[in-house]
Amino acid sequence: MKKLFLSLLLIFVAGKAMADGMPLTLAADAPAANAITPPTSVMKALCTLSPASGSQVQGWVKFTQLKGSVLVEGDVTGLAPGKHGFHIHDKGDCSAPDATSAGGHFNPLDQKHGAPNSVKSHMGDLGNIKADSTGHAKFKFKNKIIQLSGEYSIVDRAIIVHAALDDEKTQPTGNAGARVACGVIQISN
Ligand code: CU
Ligand code: ZN
Repeated sequence: MKKLFLSLLLIFVAGKAMADGMPLTLAADAPAANAITPPTSVMKALCTLSPASGSQVQGWVKFTQLKGSVLVEGDVTGLAPGKHGFHIHDKGDCSAPDATSAGGHFNPLDQKHGAPNSVKSHMGDLGNIKADSTGHAKFKFKNKIIQLSGEYSIVDRAIIVHAALDDEKTQPTGNAGARVACGVIQISN
């Protein structure tokens, strides 16, 4: 009985669609009202850093979209005192023990490695973070190059903290040494 009802309903719907001059296939392919669409404007993103290359380095980085720039805040522990290269790398993949799975610096516009906040540098060049004598780096800065949405979004890419200082000159890495922490940037609320 239920089957018969459904068949009748289908015939009715098909008949109506044809009467309306709408091809059936199009009607079937139309997206459901509750279909999930990717966000067009991401306001916040978060990255949890885990140790790499046998280090004890860990922490978090938070990104907040402001007008014309992105606020980057973070807290990282387990570092050697001093400055450490800090970049967005191309692939959101921290699976390799030395984090080489994250690929090179995020560089969609084919620029050279350099200082942060320059259109002539890799988009992922964020310079250095500085650890105090206890190996703790707490930082907060603005960057006007990176974006959380759109074609050049940093979401689903990786943050890498390096063992050494980024000299902002040496190609293509800044000579920043081993990758001591890695995390994937994810959309946050
Ligand atoms: Cu790097
Ligand atoms: Zn770079």
